[in-house]
Amino acid sequence: VIGVGVVGAGTMGRYFIETISDWIPEAKVIAVASRTAHAGGPRLTHETGLELIGDPAVDAVIVASPDETHEELVLACLEARKPVLCEKPLAPTSSECRRIVEAEARLGRRYIQVGYMRRFDPAFAALKSAVDRRGIGAPLMLHCSHRAPGPSRNRSTDLLMSNAAVHDIDAVRWLLAQEISSATVYLPPAVRLNQAKYDPLLIVLRTTSETVVDVEIFVNAGYGCEIRTEVLCEYGTIALAGPHLIAVKHDGNESLTVPRNSLATFRDAYRAELKAWIQSVSEGDAIAPNAWDGFAATAVSDACRRSIATGEPAKVELGERPSLYADNDIHEN
Ligand SMILES: NC(=O)c1ccc[n+]([C@@H]2O[C@H](COP(=O)([O-])OP(=O)(O)OC[C@H]3O[C@@H](n4cnc5c(N)ncnc54)[C@H](O)[C@@H]3O)[C@@H](O)[C@H]2O)c1
Repeated sequence: VIGVGVVGAGTMGRYFIETISDWIPEAKVIAVASRTAHAGGPRLTHETGLELIGDPAVDAVIVASPDETHEELVLACLEARKPVLCEKPLAPTSSECRRIVEAEARLGRRYIQVGYMRRFDPAFAALKSAVDRRGIGAPLMLHCSHRAPGPSRNRSTDLLMSNAAVHDIDAVRWLLAQEISSATVYLPPAVRLNQAKYDPLLIVLRTTSETVVDVEIFVNAGYGCEIRTEVLCEYGTIALAGPHLIAVKHDGNESLTVPRNSLATFRDAYRAELKAWIQSVSEGDAIAPNAWDGFAATAVSDACRRSIATGEPAKVELGERPSLYADNDIHEN
């Protein structure tokens, strides 16, 4: 049984602890470190994340603390040569992510998986394999929307990019197997209905093969969690059919029920993600989404932030991809 240490016992940390205990018999959470103890939360076993990572009883680490703590913790996992599932984003800026990629590349072995759980979601996986089969031709354009009930803790438009939009950015790279080359963000008039000044907003991405992608971000949508993705291909379209889980007919009305939040929407995805991660830990080889994927998603979110600042399209700066990630099936041209 793999001894897992969890850093951060907030929403995600606790959810992972529960999911491992209910669904993953091959692993056991043996250590938890968090800045604050939560009422009814797990018992904290270590003062700090760094202490937990250094504990020889901990075989593998989940980083589920706030984004700005990720770099230090992930680098410590690399130093200790311990596999780590780092919640998204790998880090909030591409320079932090780049340092992580370089450190892992120096080790010549992959230890890092990034928590882009959509890749493990049954509906997203079906969408990906339909796109890959090319049954209705090559993908030409993508429409995505990312709506969450709010009130969002993303209090700035920068955070909407580095913390929320990165999910869609990763999904686009993965679905199209293409890197993203530029980003333009279109802002509505500033709104006051939430902490972030601009929400909803629209991101337009171009991939290296000139595929056009639009992503609506609306994290204070109020009504529930709705993630839409439609791939327009040469001879038709393929889309996620959700988000409705059930339809209720009652008293002369029919209504469709929308999941309340992303934990409800992606329950199966988180389970599959953890299962795949634990399996990769026991096999000794980390799987995608890897550190390069984490870096690339954040590099695109950085470009979005630059576009917001200038009002112009911004180029995505990836730089060189270390040979450790040469087998990534996401192409740069
Ligand atoms: N994959 C997803 O769908 C998804 C959803 C939500 C959050 N997340 C990510 O998960 C991470 C955690 O988010 P959350 O919503 O659980 O946040 P949260 O605020 O609910 O929990 C964060 C926890 O980390 C602890 N913490 C803070 N600083 C720490 C430090 N230096 N060392 C150890 N613990 C520390 C806090 O005490 C708290 O318990 C974030 O990176 C976020 O982006 C991912």
